[in-house]
Amino acid sequence: MKLYDFDTCVERRNTDSEKWNCCTERFGTNEIIPLWVADMDFKTPDFVMDALRKRMDHEILGYAYRLDSFYESLKNWLKRRAGWEIDLSDLSFAPGIVPAFNFAVLAFTEPGDKILINSPVYHPFMYAINDHGRTIVKNSLTLDDKGLYSIDFDDLEAKLAEGVKMYLFCSPHNPVGRVWTREELQRIGDLCVKYEVLLISDEIHSDLIFRPHKHIHTASLSESIARQTVTLLAPSKTFNLAGTSTSAIHTVNRRYLDALNKLINSLHITQGNIFGNVAFEAAYNFGDEWLEQLLVYLEGNFDYIIDYVDEHIPGIKIRKPEGTYLMWLDCRELGMNQQELNTFMVQEAKLAMNPGTLFGDEGAGFMRLNAATPRSILREAMLNLRNAVGRLPSHKHG
Ligand SMILES: Cc1ncc(COP(=O)(O)O)c(C=O)c1O
Repeated sequence: MKLYDFDTCVERRNTDSEKWNCCTERFGTNEIIPLWVADMDFKTPDFVMDALRKRMDHEILGYAYRLDSFYESLKNWLKRRAGWEIDLSDLSFAPGIVPAFNFAVLAFTEPGDKILINSPVYHPFMYAINDHGRTIVKNSLTLDDKGLYSIDFDDLEAKLAEGVKMYLFCSPHNPVGRVWTREELQRIGDLCVKYEVLLISDEIHSDLIFRPHKHIHTASLSESIARQTVTLLAPSKTFNLAGTSTSAIHTVNRRYLDALNKLINSLHITQGNIFGNVAFEAAYNFGDEWLEQLLVYLEGNFDYIIDYVDEHIPGIKIRKPEGTYLMWLDCRELGMNQQELNTFMVQEAKLAMNPGTLFGDEGAGFMRLNAATPRSILREAMLNLRNAVGRLPSHKHG
């Protein structure tokens, strides 16, 4: 078995990395440890890079089309990893998941229509609704005293019954790290069927799952739920390919697939790019072992951070993510408002993280930390945080 290396720090400063080189624009300084944008600081796996190199060696980069093997790689991956059997004819291409859910908003709703989200949630969901003049309906997640987020089903049903057209659903959930259980997904799916709400299930993080949790693809639950669902999938988070903008749409509902294809074709973006196709296919064909090792490393990062914070950093609480590589830091006991907290993290702790309120008002007092980075970087980050909190007047003698 080949052992992959996640400890080496690849120099990303002074490259085109948004995470490492756009801190000045966003945080006012580049002298800061970047734990924000959701990509990984690990090398994209060798089997992806080898496939890309092989394609380069052909030395003609003309117009291309997606071979059946592109979709087969995803079909086989879903069968191997989740036991979910799908038809190739139910798959289509999208140049990214964010574009895909924007297309869905445009194709299936009208200005003013209501679209539901579980706030706090991945902020581009809100932009997709606002930017196209649709109306956000919030089903806020509830938070218990152990840091576990859940869905308020009474509120969800009441809101879906109010004429919501679409539900933008994040599974697993960014930023709170929930992997929804079969029961939760079944209830969500059944409600969407009952109220004829189109469920857009963004499952971009569905390979990043930590035991004992298990991702269940919403559309795999029943035929009726599948007919009500459009699933968005990509290898981009899992294998660090986000810059290649190549994703997939799945739905058994011909009406939905045809409408999305019609829109995507009319914009002349069906072509995508040849390197994205190659990377996608190689990742899904050869990625199992690499992913298993990545998950072990990420879990080690979570454990390291949680133990360190428990021991050394009073005022911050973290529940271990069930999925994703994103950690959701509950900083409310530091007693700062969001603005003060953001300034504190940048100026005192020298850390670039996403403010909780970026994901909705419910995120007030939280910060999102991207843990997909070599442990040595996290060690430096935790030391910065410990020292910064230690300098706070209320914690001087803590
Ligand atoms: C839930 C979710 N959807 C979509 C994306 C990005 O998708 P893409 O880069 O394919 O547009 C992210 C990235 O963080 C995400 O967390």
